[in-house]
Amino acid sequence: MDAIQLKQKAAEKAITYVKSGMTVGLGTGSTAYWAIQFLGEKVKQGLDIQCIATSQQSDDLARSLGIPMTRFADISTIDITIDGADETTCTRQLIKGGGAALLREKIVAAATDFYIIIVDEQKVVDKLGKFKIPIEVVPFGYESTIRKIQQLGAKASVRLTKEGNVLVTDNHNYIVDADFGLIDDVDILHKNINEIVGVVENGLFINMASIVVVAHADGTIEVLH
Ligand code: A5P
Repeated sequence: MDAIQLKQKAAEKAITYVKSGMTVGLGTGSTAYWAIQFLGEKVKQGLDIQCIATSQQSDDLARSLGIPMTRFADISTIDITIDGADETTCTRQLIKGGGAALLREKIVAAATDFYIIIVDEQKVVDKLGKFKIPIEVVPFGYESTIRKIQQLGAKASVRLTKEGNVLVTDNHNYIVDADFGLIDDVDILHKNINEIVGVVENGLFINMASIVVVAHADGTIEVLH
């Protein structure tokens, strides 16, 4: 199976958890894209859901497919969220934010009862950290914030667009990509990063995922509980 088919497989499995009447969080990225596409088809067939997106891009996609959207002001909880990840361990600890949407993704995840992550098998690792940790920082003084991140032991730099400009998130912030190497204690690192003034949130998603749906190259699906 090719990469796209694996994303589709994982997304197909994830949307079987979605039932009429639910409020659903929509993730961001090339895997979550398929979950949104398939939900769009189900909505056309009569699935009655309302959704909240983790990025402007996913919001635009969902609206273009006719998926009803809601706002935090109008709901108290999100029943299910389906999102991708950049890395996951077998115990469902994650790195997210490769698509620069980590802040909204984490806010949506924190408000979600059942948080589903969909990945292909290449994203499953023994230890997090090969993928650099995306960290959302406020633009003011970001050079100083980067130095503080470096003082924690990382090689870190601000993320640029393909055109070479500083990437600006949906929340008008910047992303710093921080390479700490393989991480021994994710809890401590998560806390240390978020204690830096100027950091808004980081891409370590610890003890958040309810299940991780893994699509394997041989076509099988594994669900990590
Ligand atoms: C977006 O900011 C990310 O957290 C994505 O969920 C993550 O990067 C996975 O994206 P892909 O599904 O495109 O690999």
